[in-house]
Amino acid sequence: MDKTQNSGVEYSFNEIVYFLNGTKQSAILPPDLTTLEMLHHKLHMYGTKCSCNEGDCGACTVVISYPQEGTIVYEAINSCLYPAVKLHGKHLITIEGLGSPENLHPIQQALLEHHGTQCGYCTPGFVMSLFALLASISHPNMENIMAALEGNLCRCTGYQSILDAAQELSKDHDPATIVPAWCRAIEAQLFSFNEKTTVRAQVSNSLFKIDKYLQVENCRELAQLLSTHPNATLIAGGTDVMVQVNIARRHFPCLIDICGIAELKNIRLKRDGIHIGAAVTYSRIMDSGIIKTDLPALIEICRLIAGKQIRNSGTLVGNIANASPIGDSLPLLLIYETRLVLASEQGERELALRDFFVEYRKTALQTGEYIKEIIINRPFQDTFIACLKTAKRKSVDISAISSAIRIDRQPEARAMLALGGVAATPVISKTFTTLWASMAEKDWQQLAEKVAAEFSPLADVRGSAEYRKQMIINHILQYGEAYNG
Ligand SMILES: Cc1cc2nc3c(=O)[nH]c(=O)nc-3n(C[C@H](O)[C@H](O)[C@H](O)COP(=O)(O)OP(=O)(O)OC[C@H]3O[C@@H](n4cnc5c(N)ncnc54)[C@H](O)[C@@H]3O)c2cc1C
Ligand code: FES
Ligand code: FES
Repeated sequence: MDKTQNSGVEYSFNEIVYFLNGTKQSAILPPDLTTLEMLHHKLHMYGTKCSCNEGDCGACTVVISYPQEGTIVYEAINSCLYPAVKLHGKHLITIEGLGSPENLHPIQQALLEHHGTQCGYCTPGFVMSLFALLASISHPNMENIMAALEGNLCRCTGYQSILDAAQELSKDHDPATIVPAWCRAIEAQLFSFNEKTTVRAQVSNSLFKIDKYLQVENCRELAQLLSTHPNATLIAGGTDVMVQVNIARRHFPCLIDICGIAELKNIRLKRDGIHIGAAVTYSRIMDSGIIKTDLPALIEICRLIAGKQIRNSGTLVGNIANASPIGDSLPLLLIYETRLVLASEQGERELALRDFFVEYRKTALQTGEYIKEIIINRPFQDTFIACLKTAKRKSVDISAISSAIRIDRQPEARAMLALGGVAATPVISKTFTTLWASMAEKDWQQLAEKVAAEFSPLADVRGSAEYRKQMIINHILQYGEAYNG
């Protein structure tokens, strides 16, 4: 740990070890530095661009590679939201590593040939997103390409030329020709990496946006730290927390990063249901065989959340703990009757998700407690489950309303509808369940109108109260068509 004396104020920064474009590096980092700030202010590498600084535009996209379940993954992330201390033991790949004006990388060459760049400001971000895609999938289809690029905005080209370049690349290339030899050379070092860092960066005044950034390796240590640091905030993917740092300029006395805890990264099928750990990202959920087989609607809702870069960092449990009434996964998790495992130094307890949301952004989490994992029962084969989200854009947009429905035929006939964006917390409609049970012939129009009358949604930039009520009706009618059809 490096200590610096400056005007009588002592700063204790941390040394991390990571790889940058094929070369091993060590860096001494203050607790609040993002990867983008490190590139610009410490390394003077300006190829990676900054536009929104809040995960919306993709201009700052870089790729990280690291071992996961016995293989090396290549993931696009937003460097503006990624704390630089998280890079310990990972390979950071930036636009500077991929090609040079004299020797373009095949992705840069294809964008050039298809006129996929004009002012060029967004181009490094598009190149890095395409690099992560083509390094991970052989010959991706159009759906894969759209998913990889939905987190990147371009003001100039109109996108078609970028998509043309991507399609040609996907025909002609596979990971063998896309991933440079210097990346492959680092992979063995990533597997065997075992250098320790106790990331305990802290500063002794409040000039910094984050005073202390602690990374933990096991749940026991996490519980201890939470009891000794009652003012600490947990950080998982940081896609909510770092927006507060960058945009709201919120000052955090202490962040505790849980992403180094191996036991929180598992998805497991057990007798009492499917367990999803607190550090499991949306992307991991979407790749999971267990989830694909038993909870396909969860994959559907993950696909509607943000864009690829955010899904590579953001976690489902982060969405729950953030407790926004418009957290998109929450209606579906409510109708799955999800249970939370809450842990602290005192032990563990289980709580139903429906009892977790107390009031607007207030949860039942006690001081010193954290969410360790969630448990979802496997639904019966013939249970009807669906979910919907209404937003102005298809990708990277917060919803006006979201909803999920469940209709069970066994062991007893029952129905449940949950909604987000219509009240201070995500809610289960009482009207829907009781009316459904009382109807011999299901009248979806009546169900829709009665449920809309149950709520008095707020008006905001995403929609008026009337608009939201109409969306409730539309969602339910859509469910009716799908159920009957
Ligand atoms: C550009 C952009 C687009 C987005 N789009 C969407 C969208 O379409 N739909 C949507 O719902 N959300 C969206 N989000 C919000 C965000 O990505 C999600 O809420 C995500 O699930 C947060 O997960 P995280 O791991 O990044 O959380 P973090 O930012 O790390 O944490 C979020 C909150 O949860 C707490 N927390 C995290 N883990 C735990 C734990 N184990 N126990 C207790 N507390 C914990 C943290 O202290 C913090 O208060 C978007 C965000 C951005 C920046
Ligand atoms: S600068 Fe826009 S996503 Fe990071
Ligand atoms: S080429 Fe100008 S923003 Fe994309």
